[in-house]
Amino acid sequence: MKWLSPVLALAAPAHAYLRFGCATLSVQRLDPVVEPGKIPSAHVHQIIGGNAFNATMDPSIDVANKATCTSCSFSEDFSNYWTAVLYFKARNGSYKRVPQYPNALLGSLTGGMTVYYLQQDFNSNGKAKITSFKPGFRMTVGSPSASSGGNPGLRYTCLQDVMTRFPETANFPDKPCPAGIMAIHHFPACWDGKNLDSPNHQDHMYNTGKGGFVAAGACPSSHPVRMPQLALETMWDTRPFNDKSLWPADGSQPFVWSFDGADKKGFGTHADYLFAWKGDALQRTMDSTPLLSNGLKTQSVADSNKCTIQPSVKEDIDSWLPALPGYS
Ligand SMILES: *[C@@H]1O[C@H](CO)[C@@H](O)[C@H](O)[C@H]1NC(C)=O
Ligand SMILES: *[C@@H]1O[C@H](CO)[C@@H](O)[C@H](O)[C@H]1NC(C)=O
Repeated sequence: MKWLSPVLALAAPAHAYLRFGCATLSVQRLDPVVEPGKIPSAHVHQIIGGNAFNATMDPSIDVANKATCTSCSFSEDFSNYWTAVLYFKARNGSYKRVPQYPNALLGSLTGGMTVYYLQQDFNSNGKAKITSFKPGFRMTVGSPSASSGGNPGLRYTCLQDVMTRFPETANFPDKPCPAGIMAIHHFPACWDGKNLDSPNHQDHMYNTGKGGFVAAGACPSSHPVRMPQLALETMWDTRPFNDKSLWPADGSQPFVWSFDGADKKGFGTHADYLFAWKGDALQRTMDSTPLLSNGLKTQSVADSNKCTIQPSVKEDIDSWLPALPGYS
């Protein structure tokens, strides 16, 4: 993995990836992919991207034409990306939402995540055509009900400082992490070429990724179309909770995802993606060498931070809570 300054990263000649920050758009119980139309959805999510995000997001609507701002640094990206939210569970059983902080390389965005779109890997498109997602396209990776950490693309890093990237583990770190916990979600990149979605939001895609941003294997004939390798990194600021006297007496780690106070390992980590780049901006980028030579438009950190939406669901998600929101 390469750690260049943002300016250098934008200027580096050979690279075959986009890496950019998006500020928090909203934190609330909505999930237009898994529970469309449901207000509230089962559990709390943290969401980044375009401000057309709402409970329905009908696939027939071209979201990129509905949104009027985005919390992402690339101002033509009106897609939405979301994950569950991390909570700290105190000894007395109360929950407190863990704040997020931005990637140090990407400026002072408010919370949010780092987004990657890779061709084959950081340096090459593998001489392959990389086909952009289409309007209406959506997918998920991971599952709240997973009971083991089998997907090499779903990982955690215990941050010793903001630049720590290894090792990656399948489960939540079991010791306090001095600079927080990074949650990493790599999406599958092989498409069946036909379906914008599937009943479980995963079967139209196939994962040949090996984790850790290394080149993925070839796409199978069932899912022959290579798409960008999309990944999300979320930095959870667990520092306020690092005092071991606050941790469970049995020494286990105290963090849980917003969907299940019993998932002590974090194997149920998952993420959702709903594509909405403007026009052919993403395809033009994937066809370019280097990627940024096609004049992709950017916006300031201040403009990214300004793009937020009001929650559709009015509830307290931030106090010390007797139960996770939706689970009382
Ligand atoms: C979501 O936005 C679409 C497009 O603007 C709109 O048609 C729909 O009614 C909205 N749904 C909700 C639940 O607000
Ligand atoms: C539970 O513990 C937390 C952390 O020590 C504390 O801030 C909170 O007030 C406690 N809640 C109750 C209901 O005692």
